[in-house]
Amino acid sequence: MTAFRDRTTWLQGDRFGCLQPPPGKGRAWRLVLLGPPGVGKGTQAAILAREFGACPLSTGDVFRTAHERSLAPGSPLAEAEQRMNRGELVPDDVVLGLIQNRRTCLRCPGGFILHGFPRTVAQSAALDGLLAGDRLKLDAVLSYELPLVKLIARLSGRRLCPRCHAVYHALTHPPAREGVCDHCGSGLIQRADDAAEAVHTRLIVHAEATSQVADYYQRQGLLVAIDASDTPEAIFERTLRLLASRKLQARGIELEPTAPGATN
Ligand code: AP5
Repeated sequence: MTAFRDRTTWLQGDRFGCLQPPPGKGRAWRLVLLGPPGVGKGTQAAILAREFGACPLSTGDVFRTAHERSLAPGSPLAEAEQRMNRGELVPDDVVLGLIQNRRTCLRCPGGFILHGFPRTVAQSAALDGLLAGDRLKLDAVLSYELPLVKLIARLSGRRLCPRCHAVYHALTHPPAREGVCDHCGSGLIQRADDAAEAVHTRLIVHAEATSQVADYYQRQGLLVAIDASDTPEAIFERTLRLLASRKLQARGIELEPTAPGATN
């Protein structure tokens, strides 16, 4: 699943303009998606982006796109790639430099669906500062949850198109022709950081650092916990119901709030 939206500014930096700005359907949504590796943040970001007209913005995609250009050995992005392949976090100063260079996307009138950023409390505080500088606020922070065994099944079956970044799964979302992207015909690959050792590191890093980010947003009253088992479409519907129950109903979408005591 991918959003076929032009994200040139996000992927390459503020010097490059998007050829086709997001449509911005009605109100501009500004959301952050949290959750462990493989929980389905990218998949949900693509659906939310399609339905809400906001851009799906992933820092992981920025690093993976940088890899497609030749990186000078020893440069911050080359070092970031090595860390990423090992499953470690990229240092905050590198990530924040990259975000600073993409501020246009945070100001975009179409809104944004951030995933993969922020990943540390320092990054969350920096995002708050950037948004406050533009008198903008997050609408909600969606925190997806899934048992470990299902996370590993999602990561081990994931296949990626290196050209258009479409994401597949060998069992739950296979391409029409095995190993070939439905959208652009490129050969599918496995991400280097989906290897078992890197997955192990990523899960530990998530438990240690990234979960503090959830506490940060919980304190701000922005956190919405969402059960990420079930199909992508069912999770999206669940997300809408939870947003509606927070009186953040998307324009034109009439949904009953989740009943008190009902499972997410
Ligand atoms: P990043 O690219 O952000 O990866 P991640 O957070 O580990 O998340 P993933 O992309 O692995 O999973 P996802 O939750 O998006 O799941 P997906 O939708 O693909 O970061 C990668 C690395 O970059 C980091 O480890 C770090 O090194 C570095 N980095 C990035 N940002 C950073 C930052 N801010 N600070 C520091 N370092 C940073 O789904 C997974 C699979 O499951 C797919 O095959 C999909 O088809 C399938 N699937 C999805 N939903 C369902 C469903 N409901 N049912 C069945 N299958 C499903």
